[in-house]
Amino acid sequence: MEIKKITSLNGAFTVPGDKSISHRAIMFGAICDGVSHITGFLNGADCLSTIECFRQMGVQIDVNNDAVTVYGKGLHGLKKPDELLYTGNSGTTTRLLCGLLCAQDFECDIAGDESIAKRPMKRVCEPLRLMGAKIDGDYCPLHITGKEINGIDYHMMVASAQVKTALILAAMYANGKTTIHELEKSRDHTELMLRAMGANIEVDGLNITIDKTDRLNAQDIKVPGDISSAAFFMVLGAILKNSEITIKNVGINPTRTGIIDVLLDMGADITLENKRVVTGEQVADIKVRSSKLKAVTIGGDIIPRLIDELPIIAVASVFAEGKTVIKDAQELKVKETNRIFAVVNEFKKCGVDIKETDDGMIINGNKPIHGADFKTYGDHRMAMSLTVLAQMASGISTIDDDKCVSVSYPSFFDDLYGLSK
Ligand code: S3P
Repeated sequence: MEIKKITSLNGAFTVPGDKSISHRAIMFGAICDGVSHITGFLNGADCLSTIECFRQMGVQIDVNNDAVTVYGKGLHGLKKPDELLYTGNSGTTTRLLCGLLCAQDFECDIAGDESIAKRPMKRVCEPLRLMGAKIDGDYCPLHITGKEINGIDYHMMVASAQVKTALILAAMYANGKTTIHELEKSRDHTELMLRAMGANIEVDGLNITIDKTDRLNAQDIKVPGDISSAAFFMVLGAILKNSEITIKNVGINPTRTGIIDVLLDMGADITLENKRVVTGEQVADIKVRSSKLKAVTIGGDIIPRLIDELPIIAVASVFAEGKTVIKDAQELKVKETNRIFAVVNEFKKCGVDIKETDDGMIINGNKPIHGADFKTYGDHRMAMSLTVLAQMASGISTIDDDKCVSVSYPSFFDDLYGLSK
């Protein structure tokens, strides 16, 4: 697809619901007692994979655009699926299911697409095995034999909310207490939502203690807009001249706002308005105006707070004065694609001065770039980042796959061109 170019961005709009919260609302709703009404749900491919898996396990889920009703089966009401559970492109669905299904009283198989088959599952299978789980395989397809499991005291090896959530889910079924020690603080939507549903979870800094839980109570959940989707517009609004946008109703949970901290450090004109709390999550309207950016160094414990935004932060740094260093970001190598390689390879095609490192990249910004034929590697966030990059390039650019944006942001191109002049 040829990427149409715009000259400025103006107006107020909303982005689709948060992907992490949408997945959790379905999964946790399915094991609650009672009916959950979810609004603002992300109707994207990944979350629809989650819905299909739970329907296969006997859960009635009605979807009407962004309004979803989940008829909970209780903690012990899931049924053995007749067929393999197919998780598509979704790492969150795959890893969270491992935690939940290892403690059920049935066997099942989990597999996803080509990308999922390459993503490491050992990080979740290994600690679950320490709890007594029986999971065959460290890559998909995985065969899980549900059984009685026991609590553990576990020091996490990676900063990952997917691993943490899988362990929390298993721990709700395990005999005795489980304590998880996080390496760095990762997104905490699970802890917030499960506590509100009545789970026995205590959080003390990086330590989370979970006790066996007898019952979860259904909650109505209003999903805020996804900051990871808003990020593309935050960066484009900052780098395009004569732009002023307001992205309304965006989740600003502090475990997710690394992108705002970094853009402010770079000198972006961003303000948060109308801050409020909606079903336990912090929300605000984000106002962004064109600004002059400067380079920064990004690394350490901010990385989990902006891990999904690093490709679009790399785009921002292409238009920042000076040398931006992104480090401690090895996790990018095991996302939907190897995002260090993908970003460096594709950015080079249009003349960006960028170098790959072991744990990130170095970008010398503020140099002219030209159009190119970009590859997305089937990765939704690559497709959207490259579309933003192409807006600032001279000449024509193309991407080989625009459809993959449907994983997290099906209306991305409509929103982009709807706000443009
Ligand atoms: C997610 C956690 C992150 C993130 C992913 C969604 C979640 O992955 O990259 O897009 O919903 O828990 P990791 O847990 O692998 O860091």
